[in-house]
This record gives sequence, structure tokens and C-alpha cells, in this order.
Amino acid sequence: MTLWNSRLGSDPSKSLMDFTVSLNFDKRLAKYDLKASLAHLFGLKEVNLVTEDEYKIISEALSTIEKELETQEFKFVETDEDIHTAIERRTIELVGEVGGKLHTGRSRNDQVVTALRLLAKDEIKEIAENVVELTTVLLNRAKEVPEIYLPGYTHLQRAQPILLSHHLLAHGWSFFRDLDRLINCYERLDCSSLGAGALGGSTLPLNPKIVKDYLGFKKLFENSLDAVADRDFVAETLFDISLIGIHLSKLGEEIILWTSSEFGFATLDDKFSTGSSMLPQKKNPDIAELARGKSGRLIGNLTGFLATLKSLPLAYNRDLQEDKEPMFDSIDQIKLALGAFCGMLNTIEFHEVTMQSAADSAYSVAIDLAEWLVQKGMPFRSAYNLVGTVVKDSIERHVALPELVLAHPDLGELAMEIFKPGTSVKRRISHGSTGIEPVKIQIKNYEKTLNEVRKSLLKL
Ligand code: ARG
Repeated sequence: MTLWNSRLGSDPSKSLMDFTVSLNFDKRLAKYDLKASLAHLFGLKEVNLVTEDEYKIISEALSTIEKELETQEFKFVETDEDIHTAIERRTIELVGEVGGKLHTGRSRNDQVVTALRLLAKDEIKEIAENVVELTTVLLNRAKEVPEIYLPGYTHLQRAQPILLSHHLLAHGWSFFRDLDRLINCYERLDCSSLGAGALGGSTLPLNPKIVKDYLGFKKLFENSLDAVADRDFVAETLFDISLIGIHLSKLGEEIILWTSSEFGFATLDDKFSTGSSMLPQKKNPDIAELARGKSGRLIGNLTGFLATLKSLPLAYNRDLQEDKEPMFDSIDQIKLALGAFCGMLNTIEFHEVTMQSAADSAYSVAIDLAEWLVQKGMPFRSAYNLVGTVVKDSIERHVALPELVLAHPDLGELAMEIFKPGTSVKRRISHGSTGIEPVKIQIKNYEKTLNEVRKSLLKL
């Protein structure tokens, strides 16, 4: 028997139930539904809609249900459409008709969104902690290699020598922005929807503020229609997770390149590599590849859900039940990916000799030669043209660049210093650049940012 049996003449058809039931995935909301149910019950007691005794009886039933769910003794029945109906049904089963008071002034519409907001708060915090761990791994690895450099690329063509620490921290800063977004998203969704009812509130003297405080939400809904229809927070969470996934995929792509024989810049620890079932010599970067692949799935979860939301009229529509699967999937996938990345990056071995010799090409310091001339007073465009001509000459006549620089009247012996391996990263002095000194300052700022993020997370 369903909860709405009094209105509908017959039991639901099997095909309707097969198609509409959400229990198999929204079971995950059980703990939050119970928490919100208890808060709602407390609110009812505070405004005398249930007596102290009734409060005691029903809250005890809720703790029994909690235990039954924990120990998997809870028996679901065929007509349990979702976790909310299952919990209400069981409450009435346990305590009789008085259990029916639990749903006073409440609808599954305000109930489900409140439970989902509570879940989102916990999960966002956990994801953020995982991202903090990753930014810490990047920092620690960067600090281990203060002077190691490799080619920096634009268009995947060697451009100029870059410190490995600078490169690793570049990824770290993008994860800091992800953290900022997660914290913002958390603060925006930290709002109670309970008390909105099905869509228009209630004729009963409910006090949603008491319920909001009980649940520890920062804000309370202002408009009951908006409260039950709003899923912006799901879309935002999915976006924030997608972007973290995209950042992982970019970092992953570099790991894939760096660990290839063609680059030879790094080797993965065996614990974080996979083998081939046929080719005995293979060692594959599957974590990095799956992060690249799964970022597609995360984007799919986001765009799919945005399409679900598009054009929905106010207020609740069953379409909104489609919020949970993409949300849960993205949360699970990103947590797994972040954990695997921390391990992979903690143990990856960098090959400094290969990295540095790839960066030591004379052409990669062409800009340093031009800036050397600028320091002598030459306008930049003239310096650029002068060096460009020497580079062209070197390529066309197959003469080593340093030889031509040495012979050039505007360059000569003094400019030769620039070609010494490792000089380029020592000479970089501008703010935020890849110079050894600026990177030391960057590391200080990075550490400061990391501490601030850690503190903000503790406050959530
Ligand atoms: N399982 C439903 C969901 O996830 C709960 C709300 C159902 N509300 C309703 N009016 N049918 O959206």
C-alpha cells in the first residue's frame, strides 16, 4: 500500500514503480533524511503540533530506523518509492497512528531538497579536503626540486626553460581556485528548505527558523516555491567537480607525456602504474588516463543535469529526482581520482638530467638574448629582430647559435654567459616568474594561501 492510497483507487502498476522508484540510489540520503526528520519533529514540538510524549515516541522510532538501516535489518517493501516514504512508512509501522504526525506541515518536496543540501555540505567538505591534500603534495614535490628545470612549452613546442617547481605549483594554483569555488558553493547552498511544504508553506504555525537552527544551516529560504524548486546548488556542485576533473585531466595529460619514452621526464612508481596483459615490457599511466577519460563523464553529468533543469516550470516536478544520480556519481568519481592522484604524484620520480638537457637547447634562450640587448638600451622590437635574424642564420647555415652570437658585434663574449645551462632560470627576476628567487617568494605565498584555505575549511 502506498502513502497516497486514500486518493488513488488502485495500487501502482509494476511498470510505473519500475520507472519511477528512486530507492536504489536515494538510500544514500537516509542519514540526512533522518536528521532532517528529527529536526522537523523538534520544530513541531516547539510549536505544540506534537506533544512532548509524541516527540519522544516518534524520535525513538527514528533512532530505531537509524539502527535498522545501519545494520541492514531495515526491510524495504515494494511500495517504498523512495527513502523518504520508506522512513515514514516504517515510523508508522513502529509506533502506530501517532507516527503519522511526523509528516505534519511537510512534503517530500521540501524534505528531499533539505536532505540533499545536508549531503552536499558533507561531501563538498570532503572533496575540498582531498583537494587540499593534492595542493600539499604539489607543494612538497616543488620544494624538493628548487633548481631543476625543464622545457616550458607553448603549442607543445619547447619555448623556454621553466623550473619544475614553478610548473608543479602552476597546477596547484588552479586547484586553489577550485577550493575557492567549493567554499563559495558550500556557503550558497547552506540554506534550509524545510517548512516550504509542497510548494506554498502551511496553514499550521510552523517555525522553520527553529528547524534551520537545529540543522545548523546558515540561512533559511525566503520563498517556498523557490525553496522546493531550486537545484542551482546541484548544478554548481557538478560544475565545480567538473572543473576539478578538468584540472586533473590536464595534469594527467602531462604525466602521460612525461612518462612516455619520447619525453622520459618521469617514471611512475610501480604501485601507481598498471601493466599490459600481453606486452611484458609495458608500464602504463592508467590513473592519469582515467582522470582524462572520466573528466568527460563529469562534464556529462553537469550538462545532462542542466538540460534536465532547463524550462522546468515552478515548483517541484518529478524531473528533479534526476538530480541525485549525477551528483552522487560525480562526488564518488572525483574523490577516487583525487586520492589516486595524491599517491601517484607523491611517488613519481623526476628525471632531472633528461628534463634539463631537453631545456638546454641554445634556441630556448633566444628571448634572454633579446632582453640582454634591451638592458643595453636597444628597443625590444629591434632586439627581437636582431636575435631572430641570428637564429634564422644559424638554422639555414647549420651553424651553432652560440658561435654566431660570439661573432656578432652587438652580442659577443659578454652575451655568451646566457648559454650556460641553468642560467636562464637564475636570471629571471620578475614577479611570479620562473626565476629561482621569484619562485621562493611564490612558495611563501602558496604556503600562506594553503593555510588560509585550511582555516576556511575548518570554519565550514
Ligand atoms: N524521490 C523524489 C525526488 O527525489 C522525492 C520527492 C517526491 N515528490 C513528489 N511530489 N512526488 O525528487
